[in-house]
Amino acid sequence: MKKKFFNLKIYLDDTATEMIVEDGKIDQIGTNLPKCDEEIDLAGKLVLPPYVDPHLHLDYVYTGRNDGGKIKTGTLFEGIARWHDIKKNQTKEDARERALAAIREEVSQGVQFIRTHIDVTDPKLLGMQVMLELREELKDIVTIQIVSFPQEGMYAYKGGYELVEEGLKMGADCVGGIPHFEWAREIGEKSVHSTVELALKYGKMIDVHCDETDDVMARFLELLNALTMLEGAGSKTAASHTCSFGSADDAYAYRMMGLFKANGINFIACPTENAYLQGRQDTYPKRRGLTRVKEFLEEGINVCFGQDSINDPWYPLGNGNMMNILDNGIHLTHVSSYSELETAFNLITYNGAKTMMLDDQYGLEAGKPANFIVLNESSVFEAIRRRVEVLASVRNGNFLFRRREPEYEIPLDL
Ligand code: FE2
Repeated sequence: MKKKFFNLKIYLDDTATEMIVEDGKIDQIGTNLPKCDEEIDLAGKLVLPPYVDPHLHLDYVYTGRNDGGKIKTGTLFEGIARWHDIKKNQTKEDARERALAAIREEVSQGVQFIRTHIDVTDPKLLGMQVMLELREELKDIVTIQIVSFPQEGMYAYKGGYELVEEGLKMGADCVGGIPHFEWAREIGEKSVHSTVELALKYGKMIDVHCDETDDVMARFLELLNALTMLEGAGSKTAASHTCSFGSADDAYAYRMMGLFKANGINFIACPTENAYLQGRQDTYPKRRGLTRVKEFLEEGINVCFGQDSINDPWYPLGNGNMMNILDNGIHLTHVSSYSELETAFNLITYNGAKTMMLDDQYGLEAGKPANFIVLNESSVFEAIRRRVEVLASVRNGNFLFRRREPEYEIPLDL
């Protein structure tokens, strides 16, 4: 049966006001479309493809609450040390409940696509087992990609390489790495080589925690880009964080950006997380901690934003609200001119989808799955200025949820 959503505004489309859906797919988008048995009035609201969160750690969520008092420095390295202790007491039931709660928070705010890094530096691979089950169970509600991620190092953790490989054999979608955490530059470089080799061997995508440090000399991004360029694998590669590139010398950055563009590598920045973690060794001025998002956008290099943490040892806050991530991100990176704001939603929609290689599953076009969200605004600018909430999320043509606009019990008399 066909159904029509009407009286809507589509992001980056000035003309269409209606969408017909059939068998879970978009049948037509346009104006004055044929009448359907079921017609749903969207009251002139803005319709976007679903929010994409391309970087989240679902195995860590909500473990910060009981551990917060032990955090002293607020640095990445302290977070890793705290997680080392916390994970020893994890149970499968606990891991599952926490992950489910975080997914619920994200999906209830318009996210339908999540890439999650799952720590495999655990001989039981408990987190990976839990997430593989949830990926399958929840696939009609949310699309989850899993990164086999060695949080404590592919080599710094004994057997880390083998555990990453095991995670891939179990069914992870991407190979991860953390070269800046290895014990020497050469070992970090070795881990980047291994990441790319494993991806080629198993036909997986690549997503590396890369240069998540204020050290201006960190150069693992350069190597990751070069190795994937040699293999023609740039489009299936993501460099997450790359904070140090935000501190790199301009002449070096200029040279590298040409190579990033040629390779087609993708970048994921985590605005709230890295604003919190970075700059901890600075006195003043304190660095913002983010990579060169504005310059990437200007150069046509794909870059997107992720939540990264929801109340874990690395970051106490986070709630899966991608509008909050966008708001922080555009402030911290100066992506805030009127013309930039008109396409700023790309940072939490299309650019993330490109990074996750969701091509045939994502976007508002006839023939694609009828997945979209409805915002409580009609204009892109006002939606971002007011940081409006998601009123509805539609998956395969059906509402995952739909909320009423807030109503006043006592309206302001002004
Ligand atoms: Fe991360």
